[in-house]
Amino acid sequence: MILITGATGQVGGAALNALVAASAEVRVLVRRSSGFTGSEGVEVMQGSFDDDKSLARALEGVYVMLLAGRDSPDSVSQHQRVLAHARRAGVRHIVKLSAIGASPESPIALMREHHQIDEEIRESPGDWTLLKPHLYMQNLLRAADAVRREGRLSAPMGRDRFPLVDASDVGAAAAVILVNPTAHAAKEYKLTGPVTYNYEQVASALAAVAGHAIAYEPVAPEDFEARLLAMGIPTWRAFDLAHIASAYSAAENAISPDLPMLLGRKPRSLYEFIADNQNAFSS
Ligand SMILES: NC(=O)c1ccc[n+]([C@@H]2O[C@H](COP(=O)([O-])OP(=O)(O)OC[C@H]3O[C@@H](n4cnc5c(N)ncnc54)[C@H](OP(=O)(O)O)[C@@H]3O)[C@@H](O)[C@H]2O)c1
Repeated sequence: MILITGATGQVGGAALNALVAASAEVRVLVRRSSGFTGSEGVEVMQGSFDDDKSLARALEGVYVMLLAGRDSPDSVSQHQRVLAHARRAGVRHIVKLSAIGASPESPIALMREHHQIDEEIRESPGDWTLLKPHLYMQNLLRAADAVRREGRLSAPMGRDRFPLVDASDVGAAAAVILVNPTAHAAKEYKLTGPVTYNYEQVASALAAVAGHAIAYEPVAPEDFEARLLAMGIPTWRAFDLAHIASAYSAAENAISPDLPMLLGRKPRSLYEFIADNQNAFSS
């Protein structure tokens, strides 16, 4: 049995869709089963990373799983709890959603947390694969209101170029690995989009699809952090979001061949992503 965690999320949801399309038998662990639209071949189990009983139940009979959660100060302990249950249940292969930039020295907490869990997985007796995506194109949706209403893309991303990746491609790549995990044992894949863009170019791409002018307004990370705090975003989240550009070295902002290799096609472009979300970006 294949288990998908984070199945209501961007990556887990895309992995599930790809597995359903491939007629694979899948189990999902979801916190709210009521709002979850299960499909044929999908076994829905209600539970949480914080609930031992639900984890023991969900992991029974599982041989490979996608471990995908949400960043939070609890993420390390949550991942450790899931991994302990997976070991006990005899899960043979863990496919873990990590990130390019995961490092013990990163200024960004979520990158240090990913590194800690990645290390524990690398040192564990079972098989594993680490998925390391770059920034998701979907992050741009957080700026969609200002883009649509004010023609302004405010972001703390400086002038560097980033190989933004569509989270749906990350999920599709996870599905490829989940159906044939042995071929991907002990592999770490850097998942990037096909082109690097600075945020000036992202604004131009948004303008081209939205049909109105959009200006990039670079914001100093400290100022962006203050704005997020004023909006009530928790301190830990505000810092990571505002300073995320500092998580990447120049080498980590390069395009990787891993995603097209896994998918057997070109990854989705920024223009395709924006066109699919045209309503969010244009009035
Ligand atoms: N954003 C980026 O640019 C980026 C880039 C690289 C890597 N990443 C990594 O990608 C991951 C996020 O992926 P995503 O965007 O697919 O996430 P997402 O859309 O926010 O979804 C998170 C999923 O985790 C589930 N979840 C959260 N807390 C849980 C808990 N306590 N127990 C069980 N399930 C729980 C959520 O369930 P509910 O629906 O119940 O909340 C949801 O299904 C993070 O680890 C992040 O560091 C992000």
